[in-house]
Amino acid sequence: MLRLKTARELDTLRQNAKLLSEILVRVALRAVPGVTTKQLDRLAEKWVRQTGAEPAFLGYRGYPASLCASVDDEILHGIPSDDRVLAEGNIISLDLGLLLNGYYADAALTVPVGEAPPEGQRLMEATHGALREGISAAKIGGRVSDLSHAIDTYVRRRGFSVVREFVGHGIGRELHEDPQIPNFGPPGRGAKLAEGLVAAVEVMAKLDDEPANIRDDGWTAVTGSGVLSAHYEEMIAVTADGPEVLTQGVWEEYWQRKM
Ligand code: MF3
Ligand code: CO
Repeated sequence: MLRLKTARELDTLRQNAKLLSEILVRVALRAVPGVTTKQLDRLAEKWVRQTGAEPAFLGYRGYPASLCASVDDEILHGIPSDDRVLAEGNIISLDLGLLLNGYYADAALTVPVGEAPPEGQRLMEATHGALREGISAAKIGGRVSDLSHAIDTYVRRRGFSVVREFVGHGIGRELHEDPQIPNFGPPGRGAKLAEGLVAAVEVMAKLDDEPANIRDDGWTAVTGSGVLSAHYEEMIAVTADGPEVLTQGVWEEYWQRKM
């Protein structure tokens, strides 16, 4: 069942999403050679708590950190570690969530550590472009899988493949609400998109076309053949004027500040 949000709920979600984006961009700017993923996790947790919010992932189904930090072939849910030192040429997905005033926010982006290898840069651009394309399809009267289809088509045309094991999701009083939003499939299926739907659209793409594996830690999803993977997630609201991006375009903001 879709839980459509009132204007008042949307205001809270918008504020939370804005706070989260600001923190996530600041964390991403710290992802430079020599830094450990645990250091990034500590920063993220500190900055989330400074706003009065709580980290959304810490303790969620036993997840042991505030941030997910997934390097290179790690697709998502990488657990921050003191032993994981970032190196020039890595690409890293940073996924962060918070809970404030009863509502969740959730977003992710992948950034280069120093300069990414050319195929890593192309993969990041394709994955981010696919997220934008999917978001554009979030129009009243359309259906959930219109986003799925738009995302998959965009990724395929660039010679990459989407991750099929993980999905975007509705968000609100729960971190994961209906609907699930897969990143592939035919258009015109699933729930009808209606005003007040708020969702975390979450795209993961990679260089191979093999099933993902889960590491022995029970969390970290990795590509089947060890190739690079990228991940972007933004919160959107379906409105009468079209999709509204609540998380303010974290990737664009990251590049603007980095320059
Ligand atoms: N963005 C991810 C998701 O929606 C982050 C969840 S991490 C977890 O699944 F630790 F909370 F599971
Ligand atoms: Co999510």
